Amino acid sequence: MIKPHGSDELNPLFVYDVEQRHALVKEAESLPSILLNSAAAANAVMLGGGYFNPLTGYMNLADSLSVAEKMHTVDGLFFPVPIVNMTSESVAAGSRIALRDPNVEGNPVLAIMDVEAVEAVTDQQINFMAEKIFRTLDENHPGVATFTGLGRTMLSGPIQVLGFSYFQADFPDTFRTAVEIRNEIAEHGWEKVVAFQTRNPMHRAHEELCRMAMEQLDADGVLIHMLLGKLKPGDIPADVRDASIRKMVEVYFPPNTVMVTGYGFDMLYAGPREAVLHAVFRQNCGCTHLIVGRDHAGVGDYYGGFDAQTIFDEEVPEGSLELKIFSADHTAYSKKLNKVVMMRDVPDHTKDDFVLLSGTAVREMLGKGIAPPPEFSRPEVAKILSDYYQSLDA
Ligand code: ADX
Repeated sequence: MIKPHGSDELNPLFVYDVEQRHALVKEAESLPSILLNSAAAANAVMLGGGYFNPLTGYMNLADSLSVAEKMHTVDGLFFPVPIVNMTSESVAAGSRIALRDPNVEGNPVLAIMDVEAVEAVTDQQINFMAEKIFRTLDENHPGVATFTGLGRTMLSGPIQVLGFSYFQADFPDTFRTAVEIRNEIAEHGWEKVVAFQTRNPMHRAHEELCRMAMEQLDADGVLIHMLLGKLKPGDIPADVRDASIRKMVEVYFPPNTVMVTGYGFDMLYAGPREAVLHAVFRQNCGCTHLIVGRDHAGVGDYYGGFDAQTIFDEEVPEGSLELKIFSADHTAYSKKLNKVVMMRDVPDHTKDDFVLLSGTAVREMLGKGIAPPPEFSRPEVAKILSDYYQSLDA
């Protein structure tokens, strides 16, 4: 099986030993504590599940600046995005503190941290990092707005994770740690596994991307891996996406070829950098390939349609990752061929030969109870989405 990123074995930071975990929960009651922001809580959940292997906790300022600038820590570990705990609260360096979860009622303790350093971050340093990660400083970019508003004090050091926030309770069938996914892939006996990242419902183009990747790579299975954390307003909630994706897999894929799973992280909307982060954590899950298509992890017009592919050629040094990407061109239904195709495979086609619908147009149709054409969306999927949009108006 493909090795995790940066180590031979996966090292999740969740404390699996029940007795030790109970002892830590007890200890946390007497520790000073801070309330995390959602981004830092999501980082803890990802670290807990082994997704951010081989990190042992939150990065310090030197590593964060170095990672933002050149995707390597000061010691040379390849990592695409700073994994930080920024706060406005005051904490003493050298202290052991409890980190409370902002996303669960009562703010229970999510992790315990040994604070190695407490560093003030200047506006200039924040902007430097944001510009490198997001390629813009426009505050209208949802990722930039979140990142620049996290606080100006960076807490770094190792953590022990005690839970998986709301993800296990809210998505018991779908939320999985990297450890669980690795184990399940091993149980299936799969060697070559393609991951499909998604934060949206899956229409026919997405479904076919999975099928094309599976066939062209001669893969054993597909991991559909959906983001379950926070999104920008207007994006479709995870439970609705989950239901529609499960339905599509049930009806249109052979049994035991697709794993439908999710991970607990807030969307960064960092386009190319987020695609590389996606690659790192799919390798940690045991996947050998990741589908990267058009405007992967993008938002608005901040990134070129295929910037999330070219970054792998231009900025990821050879050997940094074992996982390979499956680069997909714009994919759509061809009226000429009566099937979903990648545009690069049909050079004789013009725009009018495809069924192309904007996200806004599809939302409008679904909101009015009109099903998008079956060439665009499977009827079973359209029904679930239409019920959701209509419930918003009710
Ligand atoms: S993402 O933000 O999670 O990347 P989304 O769920 O919309 O967004 O996309 C999932 C994957 O499908 C990404 O790799 C994206 O590039 C790809 N993709 C989505 N639509 C298309 C399309 N029409 N053609 C090619 N790739 C696509």
